[in-house]
Amino acid sequence: MTASTQVGIVGAGPAGLLLSHLLALRGIDSIVVENRSRAYCEARQRAGLLEAGTVELLRTVGLGKRMDAEGLEHGGIYLQFAGERHHLDFRDLTGGRWVTIWAQTEIVKDLIQARLAAGAQVEFEVSDTEVAGLDEDRPVLCYTDAAGTRHEVRCDAIAGCDGFHGICRDSMPPGLIRVADRDYPYSWLGILATVPPSTDELIYSRHEDGFALHTMRTPQVSRLYLQVSADEEIENWPDDRIWAELRHRLVIPGWELQDGPITEKAISPMRSFVASPMRYRRLFLAGDAAHIVPPTGAKGLNLAMADVTVLAEALTSLLRDGDSGPADAYSDSSLRRVWRATHFSWWMTSMLHVDPDPDPFAAELQLSQLRYVISSRAAATTLAENYTGYFPLHWS
Ligand code: FAD
Ligand code: PHB
Repeated sequence: MTASTQVGIVGAGPAGLLLSHLLALRGIDSIVVENRSRAYCEARQRAGLLEAGTVELLRTVGLGKRMDAEGLEHGGIYLQFAGERHHLDFRDLTGGRWVTIWAQTEIVKDLIQARLAAGAQVEFEVSDTEVAGLDEDRPVLCYTDAAGTRHEVRCDAIAGCDGFHGICRDSMPPGLIRVADRDYPYSWLGILATVPPSTDELIYSRHEDGFALHTMRTPQVSRLYLQVSADEEIENWPDDRIWAELRHRLVIPGWELQDGPITEKAISPMRSFVASPMRYRRLFLAGDAAHIVPPTGAKGLNLAMADVTVLAEALTSLLRDGDSGPADAYSDSSLRRVWRATHFSWWMTSMLHVDPDPDPFAAELQLSQLRYVISSRAAATTLAENYTGYFPLHWS
């Protein structure tokens, strides 16, 4: 079956779905193809923390209703080390900026619902996705639908929003993409638990036996993470061991950690990865397809949504107004934001995690950096302005 559209989008994660939504607001047609089922996409546990700019964008484009009713606005975080907990007040440090806890699962649900209600074409459970004809003005997106029919869709542009393991980045011509990356010698074990959060704001704890983070999803559901070794297996972590280790790394005198049934647990590797350029002719990469960061700074989802906000404007200029300037600038301008977030995530990760090879020099540097952050207004402001989002998003 052959067809045509303006923008072919690979991947129905937050990047692909939001791009399709933003393009529709500018009167541009798209198709989204996704190899997983709708239920899988809506249930995949990942990010939870939105920068103020991401929240404002979702509001502006009509996706803020549930987030405003149910999201949890946070004006700071706790940094814990050497047995003491310290509060950083983002509103005070940044002139009023904040972040919001609102789960990626909920954003994806709202986006899918909005796209389908608008009559958009979102194809779930496709297979054998390919992008071809990249040297022509109208490249082709090919896929096999859930019923087994092969499709070829001619597009004015293709957006690779297919995540780190997608096919679009590798479809670029050989030798074009440069990769800068860093592996970390540890992973995160993340749990979702049906128990009210034991804290009003997130706790980032550097403990001599490893990092721990207490975050949340709703007033009834907590999310917690533990640093574990890079080759750790989830089978080694029965629920009792997880709670005991969380207590060991988080509890301070006068504060208790409430536990409850664990409904989900998984181990995620930590990596920084940036591929550039993010464009070849009419194929554009966005989100995790082009870059990933370790989750310590909570930047991945925010970067993915920032990329497609810039990309939607660039594609609008290209396809509606015949102006290629913003499309030509897309990769460089996105990479400036990406590298700021890459540095911040690396810095947060390096400051808070414990190296598996004992290194007293590195440990003292971490503690000195943490003491500096909590005692110098300039250092605390650096953390706060990066955490709440350094580059403003523009969408009118
Ligand atoms: P994805 O969400 O990976 O979506 C890509 C989609 O493409 C997927 O649905 C995939 O199935 C589909 N796909 C792949 N290949 C194909 C193909 N060949 N054909 C069709 N479809 C395909 N970020 C934050 O900002 N804040 C946080 O608090 C945060 N916490 C995190 C915690 C954890 C434990 C993890 C793992 C990540 C966290 N992140 C966080 C990162 C964030 O979840 C990701 O950056 C975000 O999902 C990126 O969105 P995306 O749309 O670019 O990619
Ligand atoms: C989350 O809520 O999942 C979360 C929050 C902050 C982080 C990482 C993850 O730094």
